[in-house]
Amino acid sequence: MTHAAALPFAVLWADPATPNDTERDVNALDNRVAAVKMRDITKTFGPVVANHKVWLDIYRGEILALLGENGSGKTTLMNMLSGIYFPDEGQIFIDGAEVVIRSPKEAFDLGIGMIHQHFKLVNVLTAAENIVLGLEGKLDLKAAAEKIRSICDAYGFEVDPDQKVYDMSVSQKQTVEIVKVLYRGADILILDEPTAVLTPQETDKLFAVLRNMRDDGKAIVIITHKMHEVEELSDRVAVLRHGAFVGDMLTKDTNAQEMTNMMVGHPVVLNIERPEPVDPRPRIEVKGLTVRSIDGILKLDDVSFTANSGEILGIAGISGCGQKELLESIAGLQPTEAGSVCYVEDDGSREELIGKDPLVIAEMGVSLSFVPEDRLGMGLVANMDLTDNMMLRSYRRGRGPFLDRRFPKNRAEWVVSELDVNTPGVATPVRRLSGGNVQKVLVGREISSAPTVLLTAYAVRGLDIGASYTIYDMINEQKRKGVAVIYVGEDLDVLLELADRILVLCGGKVSGIVPGRGATKREVGMMMTKLGGGRNDA
Ligand SMILES: Nc1ncnc2c1ncn2[C@@H]1O[C@H](COP(=O)(O)OP(=O)(O)OP(=O)(O)O)[C@@H](O)[C@H]1O
Ligand SMILES: [Mg+2]
Repeated sequence: MTHAAALPFAVLWADPATPNDTERDVNALDNRVAAVKMRDITKTFGPVVANHKVWLDIYRGEILALLGENGSGKTTLMNMLSGIYFPDEGQIFIDGAEVVIRSPKEAFDLGIGMIHQHFKLVNVLTAAENIVLGLEGKLDLKAAAEKIRSICDAYGFEVDPDQKVYDMSVSQKQTVEIVKVLYRGADILILDEPTAVLTPQETDKLFAVLRNMRDDGKAIVIITHKMHEVEELSDRVAVLRHGAFVGDMLTKDTNAQEMTNMMVGHPVVLNIERPEPVDPRPRIEVKGLTVRSIDGILKLDDVSFTANSGEILGIAGISGCGQKELLESIAGLQPTEAGSVCYVEDDGSREELIGKDPLVIAEMGVSLSFVPEDRLGMGLVANMDLTDNMMLRSYRRGRGPFLDRRFPKNRAEWVVSELDVNTPGVATPVRRLSGGNVQKVLVGREISSAPTVLLTAYAVRGLDIGASYTIYDMINEQKRKGVAVIYVGEDLDVLLELADRILVLCGGKVSGIVPGRGATKREVGMMMTKLGGGRNDA
């Protein structure tokens, strides 16, 4: 990880335009000209008021966290700075002068760059090609690679200019997006939920470069739903509620509870229930499961465990240590090398799932909801409305070629009311919904499909606090109904509060299984990084 101290600050600060220590003191904000001032900004989409008379100030040398529930208008507001949308009303000032931003190009010319919720890179091109794509003038890839390297050195990015995008991890793609806007000279950077799909380690790296950029005098806006990130990274927070600005404060003067109350508009209780399992019985028995990736890497190594009905089995592990392969093997989506996965019926009879068609496994009541990194790419069809997206899931239950639209419509309506999906109705195309609302539809669809086994991974990615807690409640509700839940999550605090037992994976092996009640973060963390790092008595 790159530390700020390792950077040539003496050189960077030699520029008289960059702020000194006193100016970076957030208490001195009022004395500075805001890099961006938004005044009375209103934006509507037909009947939907996405932003209503919003005031917002963004300063250089500061990281501002923009907060709000799913659908509260954060992305829309920032899209008006990055030239994607044009406001219906209101004014925008950059460094005190009023501007009109009509396109992303005009935004770039004003030094504004945005890293979007859904990446916009071209897969078959290299990092360098993507970075210079669309720029005017003669293309000199060698000079470009040189400039990319110098940007990377200055802030601590790791980018290989010649790597193709299709070979990159999400975090690498995101780095390319950031370097791309810096390459174009952006000094006002907006990042829309950049950590939603990053591992904690990747997040730490990103935060280190964001701090470097802040210290270099750039203005940074980050949208995130994760309160601990807000507290760790930001200097100031601004809160939107139902499209309106409700206030801002210095991060050091507030806390997660107060910020959440402001977003929601009333006090909320942040507390996850953990009912005792009722009559748990073996439902899924995994023995000696071994999976290799296409390129021969061992992904799961002799994994054995039992998931019980009426119980939540949490899966912990650093990203990429076999969680995905595990869930997909159970759902029949992953070729396996050795081992067995047995479905145990109520009467004790057993059926081997390995080798079965995924549709047959789904019909047995095994439901997989894996929230992918690209929410629109998998599982949902952006141009279809909510009801049709529900039908995608339930068509298998249909009898004969004539589909009954009533059941999916009811399901869509249920998901909308239960998860408070922000939409004019179930006939709205999914692409019009905000990022988090898209995801509520995806997860709600799986959880509401009444399975006997619920496999869920990263269910709350991109969801606001309220929706996250509703999801935890829904999962608990399934547990009470006797469903065997296997829950893969990134947030250890949540796993420790929600799961009855926690299986810890480490490099594709079972590091241990601990009871959720009484386990500590430290103990589970140790087991994630070292096989058998803790006790194994569950
Ligand atoms: N292109 C569009 N057409 C119609 N409605 C839209 C469009 N873009 C956004 N909206 C609506 O505007 C409102 C605000 O959406 P926005 O994407 O700004 O929310 P957000 O705060 O970014 O939410 P999230 O946290 O879920 O990403 C939502 O009700 C959304 O459905
Ligand atoms: Mg958004």
